[in-house]
Amino acid sequence: MSQAESLPAAPIYARLADELGALIGNGQLRAGERLPSVRRLSRQKRISATTAVAALRSLESRGLVEARPQSGYFVKARAPQTREPAITRPPGAARLVGVDNLMVRMIDAAQNPDIAPLGAAAPDPAWFPVQRLQRVIAATARRHPELLVTCCQYYAGLDSLRHQVARHYAALGCAVAQDEVVISNGCTEALNLALGVVATPGDTIAIESPSYYGFLQIIEKRGLKALEIATHPREGLSVDALEHALASRAGRSVKACLLSTSFSNPMGASMPEREKRRLVELCERHGIALIEDDVYADLQHAGPRPLPAKAYDRSGNVMLCSSFTKTLAPGARIGWVFGGRYAEEIRLRKFAASGASPAILQEALAELLRSGGYERHLLKLRRCYAEQVARTAAAVCEYFPAGTRLTQPGGGFVIWLELPGRIDTLALYEKALQQGVTFAPGPLFSASGRYGSFLRLNCGRMWTPGIEHALMRLGQLAQGELAAGRR
Ligand SMILES: Cc1ncc(COP(=O)(O)O)c(C=O)c1O
Repeated sequence: MSQAESLPAAPIYARLADELGALIGNGQLRAGERLPSVRRLSRQKRISATTAVAALRSLESRGLVEARPQSGYFVKARAPQTREPAITRPPGAARLVGVDNLMVRMIDAAQNPDIAPLGAAAPDPAWFPVQRLQRVIAATARRHPELLVTCCQYYAGLDSLRHQVARHYAALGCAVAQDEVVISNGCTEALNLALGVVATPGDTIAIESPSYYGFLQIIEKRGLKALEIATHPREGLSVDALEHALASRAGRSVKACLLSTSFSNPMGASMPEREKRRLVELCERHGIALIEDDVYADLQHAGPRPLPAKAYDRSGNVMLCSSFTKTLAPGARIGWVFGGRYAEEIRLRKFAASGASPAILQEALAELLRSGGYERHLLKLRRCYAEQVARTAAAVCEYFPAGTRLTQPGGGFVIWLELPGRIDTLALYEKALQQGVTFAPGPLFSASGRYGSFLRLNCGRMWTPGIEHALMRLGQLAQGELAAGRR
């Protein structure tokens, strides 16, 4: 049985920990403040003292609170080195992109079992409900043998999955017509389809900075240019900076804005709702398409799932792309794009690009959404990721040089670090590889070679002494580089 399957279904202590974690996250409980006592929690919430203690201990293991002898639990003060990086200041010119080589090496290193996998943003296979997937896929093949032996005529995807995906978003408050949904081979194909309908070689795409290297690679392969926009480590792309860029000379050839609005990669930033709304309006006003990557948005650590910018789309100008890769079944390679006003053109392009996506897998995933299995699984997965991120951040604070800055994402499973003393993370990468540790060096996330002293850590691998040791080694190497730079 996989780890995620063996976890109890959303026990009361975990829900209470999430609730208290959200209060800490949104600042209602501040650093140094005392949490309600065990007795008070059990009275207020009508739970046993054991459950209240379990909730407080869970918060402690997430690194959010600390126990003080005889006094209770207190919200942990952020150590000075946990300051977040500053808002980014990318250059104002669009440029051609070239990140291939380094990215391929990093992804190859992730396949090597002897190397600690802190590089590629790949979750641990153990988080996924393998047995449930096996059962549902087998039952679907029995019930619908025709899906195995006939060529799927539905290039936009099976109606059952399109319907379930539209329902999933409708439940959040983001109404999407089923006709708008096109099922794709993962989010990557969805992004390619979306970019393909609005941009031709030579055009410019506005992106957040730093940006997921997959965006950069797609931009490169399509002969497009990237215009990097200033981005806040917690609140994501600056809409003011985008507005400014669109008014500049470089902004005139922008055909689309491509970004993750919730729990971005690599920063883990999420745009506030009012900024998502402004972004939708700004793109509409300037006649540029908005392509929104929503692949991490189901993975909030606490509180409600963020609304996508697509929820504010009134004209069909927003294309939302996502997949089950980070949430349920990376191997299925099933994703989707809400094509908005471009949906029909996307459907035709999907036919030309790869025909239909595997029908059996679509039907099986539709069944998991229909039965509520997906939502139940997410409840467990969110807690796993919250804990993984908190533990990794705590280890960074312990082992990395003083002055290291890091983001504190409210969802997903990557964190973004800025090392002090201009440590060169490309050089650090080579040294770390020799010691059996991989991570994602900062320059991978920029079209203009920025972020030379930044790096991204994947927190998606199950916490083990080996992972902690790898973080310690990496921290020591960074300490060594810092000392060498000072000599
Ligand atoms: C932001 C983002 N979008 C898309 C993807 C790729 O999604 P898929 O594997 O479904 O193509 C990733 C994978 O790391 C990602 O981080």
